[in-house]
Amino acid sequence: MRWLLPACLAGVYLIYQGVQKNDDEWTVFVTGNEQGYLSPCGCTEPMSGGIRRRDYIISAAAKNGKVVVLSVGNGLAGFGRQAEIKAETLAETYAGYPEAVVNLSSQDASLGRGVVLAMKSLSKNRLVTSSNTDNPSVDLPPEASIGPFRVSGVETNASRLRQLLGGQTNASTAASRSLVENSSDGEIPVMLVSGSKSDATRLAQAEPSIKLIAYTDDGTPPSSPVMIGSTALVSPGSRGKELVRLTFRGTVLTGYEVIDLNPTVPNGEHGSKLFKNYLNRVDRENLVDKTPRLAGQPVLGNSKCISCHQAEGKKWRQTAHAHALDTLDKVGQGRDPECVSCHTVRFDWKTGFQSRQKTPQMAFVGCESCHSGGGKHSSDPTRYKMPRLGQKVCVTCHTPDQSPKYNFLTYWPQIKH
Ligand code: HEC
Ligand code: HEC
Ligand code: HEC
Ligand code: HEC
Repeated sequence: MRWLLPACLAGVYLIYQGVQKNDDEWTVFVTGNEQGYLSPCGCTEPMSGGIRRRDYIISAAAKNGKVVVLSVGNGLAGFGRQAEIKAETLAETYAGYPEAVVNLSSQDASLGRGVVLAMKSLSKNRLVTSSNTDNPSVDLPPEASIGPFRVSGVETNASRLRQLLGGQTNASTAASRSLVENSSDGEIPVMLVSGSKSDATRLAQAEPSIKLIAYTDDGTPPSSPVMIGSTALVSPGSRGKELVRLTFRGTVLTGYEVIDLNPTVPNGEHGSKLFKNYLNRVDRENLVDKTPRLAGQPVLGNSKCISCHQAEGKKWRQTAHAHALDTLDKVGQGRDPECVSCHTVRFDWKTGFQSRQKTPQMAFVGCESCHSGGGKHSSDPTRYKMPRLGQKVCVTCHTPDQSPKYNFLTYWPQIKH
């Protein structure tokens, strides 16, 4: 029985700690500016980001305390069906968090009113915008009160938002004024800004009582918040690679941490389910077949070329290019048009890759990914010479985003033939 008393005391102490901790401590996650990246960004290890890892961190924190998720918006990039499915998926991730407020950027709204309405309902009404007031057809609130926070969202390019959605436009300074006026005693005024650091700085200078301003930024989040008077400026960086965690005790900001969503972060359960569902939809709707393409030239397939070029074929089989589509299948994205474009043969042509079943001879980066148009050459190789390629052919796929370590001098020797 000797262990019982200490155990009881420890239990009481934990409960006491728990109560004290939960009383006035809030964890605020700042995210957004995903720019259409729902999965880890880039093609070179270690790849960071994605909604699955983000979900893991947020869900774990929500089990231990009070959590608010704030998004600066700008979750989307580009147009078309895939962007729409992404918009809906992102909205669902926000609905899965206990508390969340999501700013609507003009980039998000450019997908159209229908998509904005879908995002509104799928996020469980967590979208805000004070840049687009009095629009009954969209009807988003300018601000939301969650926990101790009063949160307003603005698009600094407000006239663009009005063009897209109609309604009145509120300048961001008017939005920050009404935020301060609407915040009741003890509420912490917070702004989510689709705009730059200098926009955020201006707003902080105009309304010094705003405690926190989150803005969009194309780099990585700064290692500590930028203080303008007593206003903290923070940013989630870009493409969802990082997540910023703040701690508030009462109205005081007591903690700041940038979390790199690298491969050591496991996937969260809910985020994984949503991501799988997203890929299933992309597959089921056959977006690979619906991608617009150029007419192109006939593609003969590797075996035709290799029938005469044995040595080149042997070499090619040893390169990473030979299993480029397997790499996508391993991560479940072998039917994602945003990925197969560089991991197969001539996805930009109607005559190029369609699927493993229909075009198995193009299910990798093959001879004709680089040397295209070998039809005439194959029928009479001495008469029809293949054009010289040079280095420029590599950078169509080895872009700075997908292949940051790329350098022709070190890469060519690995595939030289
Ligand atoms: C059609 C797109 C495409 C083109 C064009 C292309 N590559 Fe690649 N390359 C890829 C893909 C995709 C991978 C990754 C394959 C994998 O690991 O599954 C890759 C991988 C490589 C690798 C292996 C890198 C590593 O770290 O393992 C080398 C080396 C390489 N490419 C060299 C080149 C060179 C040199 C050129 C130009 C002569 C070139 N590539 C042109 C798509 C392309
Ligand atoms: C613009 C062309 C391009 C696109 C689009 C692209 N990739 Fe890649 N991918 C590459 C290249 C090039 C490499 C080789 C990078 C290197 O080693 O330098 C690669 C490599 C990879 C690797 C291997 C990473 C490693 O280090 O083992 C994975 C996994 C991958 N890509 C997944 C994806 C996924 C998922 C998508 C879609 C979301 C995608 N890629 C879209 C060009 C592309
Ligand atoms: C990743 C791009 C890429 C792929 C894939 C590729 N090649 Fe090449 N190949 C090149 C480049 C670059 C050269 C160098 C000459 C040039 O710049 O045109 C070259 C050169 C050649 C040459 C001329 C060699 C010489 O001695 O002059 C032949 C033949 C050839 N490739 C055949 C093939 C065959 C067959 C395949 C498929 C099994 C293949 N290549 C796959 C990029 C590629
Ligand atoms: C019928 C046999 C045959 C086929 C099929 C064939 N080649 Fe060739 N290829 C040759 C011969 C022979 C040469 C050397 C021509 C010379 O030196 O005059 C050559 C040369 C080349 C060269 C060097 C540049 C040139 O034209 O001299 C490249 C690159 C090349 N082939 C790529 C390809 C690719 C890619 C394919 C598939 C689309 C292919 N070849 C299919 C026989 C063939």
